Amino acid sequence: MKTVLITGSTSGIGEACVKIFLKNSWKVIATGRNIKKLERLNGLGADIFKLDVTKQADINNLITHIVNSNIKVDVLVNNAGYGQFGTVEEITDEQARAQFDTNVFGLAAMTRAIIPHMRDNGGGRIINISSLAGLTSLPGGGWYAASKFAVEALSDALRWETKQFGIKVSLIEPGPINTGFAEVVNTNISVDDTSPYGSLISDLTQSTKGIKGGTAEGCARKVYRAASSRFPRNRYLVTGLAIVVKILLYILPPKLMDFFIIKMFIPALEINCKTKMKKK
Ligand SMILES: NC(=O)c1ccc[n+]([C@@H]2O[C@H](COP(=O)([O-])OP(=O)(O)OC[C@H]3O[C@@H](n4cnc5c(N)ncnc54)[C@H](OP(=O)(O)O)[C@@H]3O)[C@@H](O)[C@H]2O)c1
Repeated sequence: MKTVLITGSTSGIGEACVKIFLKNSWKVIATGRNIKKLERLNGLGADIFKLDVTKQADINNLITHIVNSNIKVDVLVNNAGYGQFGTVEEITDEQARAQFDTNVFGLAAMTRAIIPHMRDNGGGRIINISSLAGLTSLPGGGWYAASKFAVEALSDALRWETKQFGIKVSLIEPGPINTGFAEVVNTNISVDDTSPYGSLISDLTQSTKGIKGGTAEGCARKVYRAASSRFPRNRYLVTGLAIVVKILLYILPPKLMDFFIIKMFIPALEINCKTKMKKK
């Protein structure tokens, strides 16, 4: 029986991953910050473990548990993450650092901790949950995109570096998925009535609401494919929007891509710009 270790299992894509691996008779170590929320996964057959990816002590405890229990982890799914939205100017250093602490340094710390274990076992797989925001930035989503661009870059380097140890690294690149993600975005967002950016953020929120998101289960199926296929791909796009954007990035000149992003996400910005130009 193969074993998968999943971070951020308490909801959304992480929880859907736990369920699909259990359904396929894998041993699952479901980890998360909130042990109460993990209990229902324990009821379904998963081993549960309290883990905040920003806490090195939690990571050390988990690795000690794995070694002491003679568990062989075949696959690590680095899923824990959240979106800190807001304009580049208005997001504070503290908010930006917290974004990177979870999405980048947390992922890196988990990866660093599991590699020696996988190397000793002759190999393994690391699956990192990136995003459509790892392919292109978004107005109001610069820091989140920066964190996912970092995940993309680190994953590619890691794939080349660890090939010699039999470790395979894949990226999952989902477009919008219907999970608790948007709710967390909305609670973190700093909206200020006096902002010089006016309604940019609420326009962004409105236009993303209009996009039909994919399901956490659909995303988990791609994760499972990356974990179980004989020849896993480097990247798995999830949702039609992610596929369309990837194609547009290849074929459109950057200026046209700007036009497309503004039209799609913040149509009011174009009107604001035109009005300001007229006033001048
Ligand atoms: N939903 C989307 O549209 C979308 C699109 C592209 C990529 N993604 C990526 O998919 C991943 C999962 O997001 P989701 O959509 O499933 O959202 P979600 O339902 O909000 O789940 C996020 C998970 O990450 C956990 N988490 C956050 N910070 C953590 C930390 N420091 N340590 C451990 N766990 C932590 C949360 O735990 P708590 O319950 O404790 O908060 C939760 O279990 C994220 O990396 C996200 O960036 C999402």
